[in-house]
Amino acid sequence: MNFFLKILKVFPPEFAHSISLNSLNFLFRTNLIGIFNKKIDNHNEFTLFGMKFKNKLGTAAGLDKNGDYIDALGSLGFGFLEVGTVTPLPQFGNPKPRVFRNYRENSIINRLGFNNKGVEYLVKNLQKRQYKGVVGVNIGANKSSTGDKRINDYLTCIEKVHSLVDYITINISSPNTPDLRNFHIKDNLESLIISVEHKIKEVDFKKPIFLKISPDETDETIEMIVDLINNSSITGLIATNTTICKENISNEKLKNEDGGLSGQPLMDKSTNKISMIRSKCPDIPIIGVGGVMSKDDYLLKINAGADLVQIYTGFIIKGPDLINQIIRD
Ligand SMILES: Cc1cc2nc3c(=O)[nH]c(=O)nc-3n(C[C@H](O)[C@H](O)[C@H](O)COP(=O)(O)O)c2cc1C
Repeated sequence: MNFFLKILKVFPPEFAHSISLNSLNFLFRTNLIGIFNKKIDNHNEFTLFGMKFKNKLGTAAGLDKNGDYIDALGSLGFGFLEVGTVTPLPQFGNPKPRVFRNYRENSIINRLGFNNKGVEYLVKNLQKRQYKGVVGVNIGANKSSTGDKRINDYLTCIEKVHSLVDYITINISSPNTPDLRNFHIKDNLESLIISVEHKIKEVDFKKPIFLKISPDETDETIEMIVDLINNSSITGLIATNTTICKENISNEKLKNEDGGLSGQPLMDKSTNKISMIRSKCPDIPIIGVGGVMSKDDYLLKINAGADLVQIYTGFIIKGPDLINQIIRD
């Protein structure tokens, strides 16, 4: 596997992403995946927030935006998968280049801007899935939607995916869709939550709903969000998305790239947010994400108060071996 990872470093990041996931799909469909990846099945199934998990490690949103690789990723041993972010309409996202891998510092900067094939396409993939594990869908707003239309975009996605998913994540924290993070402002978030509550009542959605937050907000803002969540139908928080702060990387060229930073330089910042949320509220469900590159990092998230943990950058940089390393007892 490491040999393939080295080869992939030669290609532009988006192309490498596509080759690796399509190769994974091929290996899965031809039943060859076991040769390259010795899947560990530790049968300690447990139930959390009404969902059944084999382990606490999942994929973070963005890895499989359109749900094209659900069965293949599921076969690697993850306890759950989060697909998306999906928007109602397909969109190209920002101009390329827009993903920058920093192998030396175990990090990625991306300014993709919710490139995806639209919710109808994802729905077809959700209908086709064979994977029996937990699948969540992360939903967002189209760039072209402004004002109240943004909220309608979330509602449209809920309407389309609710019967096919185990949970839904409302993403208000991508730094690459202009003003999306304004949903961290109290009045805006309240309006969004009220609208979501109406919609889930209308479609009778009783499964968990998570809100994915930014690591760049102050503790006061996060406290306000925790209070709002506690008095709402939102189940819990995903902490965190990428950061726009580049002070933790030393590569001067990359420091100047716009976009969200993920991977090792985000680890402490996002884990501190988990600790802060947990200290404010002992029983709020938290999915921790940001910078997990090893089992130790995973345990730090759990010890900070995460109920479940997701990875993206660690999986891209270290490869599937990281999954087994983490979930092995
Ligand atoms: C290339 C790339 C694309 C991403 N796309 C999304 C996305 O569509 N929606 C989302 O909520 N988060 C997205 N993320 C953020 C990840 O889900 C995760 O929150 C963040 O990368 C921190 O985790 P990590 O350090 O393990 O990568 C993306 C991250 C990367 C690197």
